[in-house]
Amino acid sequence: MDPSSFWRVGDYGIVGDLWAAPGRDLAAALDVRGLDTIDLATGTGVTAIALARHGAASVVGVDITPPLLAEAARRAEAASLRITWLEADVTSVPLPGASADLVTSTFGLVFAAEPRRAVAEAVRLTRPGGQVVFTSWSPDGLFGEVRRTMAAHFPEAPAPWHESEAGIREVAGPLAAVTERHFELVVASPETFVAQMEQWSAPIVLAARSLGDRWPAARGQLVDVVTGTGAVVRDTFRVQVPYLVTTLRR
Ligand SMILES: C[S@@+](CC[C@H](N)C(=O)[O-])C[C@H]1O[C@@H](n2cnc3c(N)ncnc32)[C@H](O)[C@@H]1O
Repeated sequence: MDPSSFWRVGDYGIVGDLWAAPGRDLAAALDVRGLDTIDLATGTGVTAIALARHGAASVVGVDITPPLLAEAARRAEAASLRITWLEADVTSVPLPGASADLVTSTFGLVFAAEPRRAVAEAVRLTRPGGQVVFTSWSPDGLFGEVRRTMAAHFPEAPAPWHESEAGIREVAGPLAAVTERHFELVVASPETFVAQMEQWSAPIVLAARSLGDRWPAARGQLVDVVTGTGAVVRDTFRVQVPYLVTTLRR
């Protein structure tokens, strides 16, 4: 399935908002005031919008899935933020080289089928002295556990390169600096979280369809692993979710 068809399954806008904090935290942590920025695989524009809110001089959000870009544009307009939205593959962005001081991608370019080309494209778009910063899920913690639980049912699926520092350096080069950060995911319960994923998150919707009769058992395993990653606090279920931030200086 091509990436645009894949990512329009379910509704990324609903589940993506559950893990929007890393994009917002990234834009807050980097001093983006006055910078020209590009957010690759921007989805509903969580990170692009945060870059604009934090005073970037310009923001371009690039994605291959038109309905997600349309939602991104709606959100930016509602917030009166000026962002340029561009429908393109992250491995071939129709912008000149050295267009930006900062190129970001939160849980985005790591999903490109040709990751070396995606990283090379991010570097090409960055000016000398600028940086590329992208995020991926840590192998431990909520999303690593979810991926491994599903992978047990799809043994042919390759282990992702972006879950380890060594894998990231192999793709992004030996100078890639990888650090781990956390954010707090807050949901009503593990069951609610899995129900949302099952209904709206493309990878889980498609996995459930493909497992057919075997999905209820896999679903039960998912609820169990999610339960093991967090705790009930004041009627909510809270998880400290680890993720990796990779920085490439140009
Ligand atoms: C997990 S979502 C992340 C979206 C957003 N960055 C965020 O943090 O919410 C992955 C995004 O990557 C986009 N994507 C996947 N492959 C792509 C490609 N080859 N070129 C451009 N966008 C791509 C999808 O359309 C989707 O919006």
